[in-house]
Amino acid sequence: MTPPTWAAGDLAIETRALTKRFGQQTAVDAIDLAVPMGSVFGFLGPNGSGKTTSIRVMLGLAAATSGEVSLLGESMPGRLARVLPQVGALVEGPAFYPFLSGAANLRRLDTADRAAPGRTRRARVDRALDRVGLSNAAGKKVSAYSLGMKQRLGIANALLMPRRLLVLDEPTNGLDPQGTREVRALVRSLAGEGTTVFVSSHLLAEVEHMCTHAAIMSAGRLLVQGTLDELRAGESRVRVRTPDADAAIRVLAAAGLTAGLETPEVPARPGADPWVSAPLDADPQPAESLVAALVAAGVRVRGFQIDDASLEERFVALTGEGFDVVR
Ligand SMILES: Nc1ncnc2c1ncn2[C@@H]1O[C@H](COP(=O)(O)OP(=O)(O)O)[C@@H](O)[C@H]1O
Ligand SMILES: [Mg+2]
Repeated sequence: MTPPTWAAGDLAIETRALTKRFGQQTAVDAIDLAVPMGSVFGFLGPNGSGKTTSIRVMLGLAAATSGEVSLLGESMPGRLARVLPQVGALVEGPAFYPFLSGAANLRRLDTADRAAPGRTRRARVDRALDRVGLSNAAGKKVSAYSLGMKQRLGIANALLMPRRLLVLDEPTNGLDPQGTREVRALVRSLAGEGTTVFVSSHLLAEVEHMCTHAAIMSAGRLLVQGTLDELRAGESRVRVRTPDADAAIRVLAAAGLTAGLETPEVPARPGADPWVSAPLDADPQPAESLVAALVAAGVRVRGFQIDDASLEERFVALTGEGFDVVR
């Protein structure tokens, strides 16, 4: 494994009040993004929240209305020519010629990169195809590729040259579960080699599987960012299953908790015991003391659990809307 070539606190991407308007609409609204070097950073938000627009502006594919961007410590778009060779990107998929093979398409795209020496082109293309598991399909026409294979070919294109930063816009969009797993595994292995990966997604589960950090976008605004642990913090709940719901609510209230009866998402079996639950604050009472208090008050405890915060609850609370939660 290559040792890290950055110092703690270095940022791969930094934006300050980055804003992009289309006419009256503010698609990206003054976002301050801080993507640490070496992270796998999930850029999470529902469709239409401004992810692709932000990425296009960061990469210099579109001009910002206002605000600043730096990539790998260099100001954009001023230092674009210097920075871009170190950045691999997959945004809206490159245009492949369907009648050419995967390898021939990559050689064509590699030719367009003035930093890529022609002498080593074949070897470079073969290595990139190998990297994404397409060696066996290298000679097949792209028209015969599945969507997952095309997406991996797009990533191979981003990997032709050694990169310090990879920017992938919804790389698993439209993939079947197998293709999705392949892309996720690839992202993790690239990160393991020290490449910073910035990956957008509208799927929460995706970010939970792949990323060390995340930022949440909603309607053009950046709501929160940090490590996944930081984002999850402080939202756990205690849950009690009991036929004595009223008594349980009183006991939890006496312990300082705001308890209530849960409304099941799926109607409960008739006669099933209801669940009573309460959010736990940052410094909760130990679970055993809550159990002891419930039992001492004669509450028949038939189920007891502490649910740690899920990112999903946090995100729904922040955005006021659900994600397409596909696992
Ligand atoms: N070229 C454009 N012209 C006008 N509006 C656009 C353009 N590109 C994006 N938008 C609008 O900006 C908003 C954010 O879009 P986008 O960045 O594609 O979101 P996401 O990638 O999160 O789905 C959407 O309302 C979209 O319709
Ligand atoms: Mg998008």
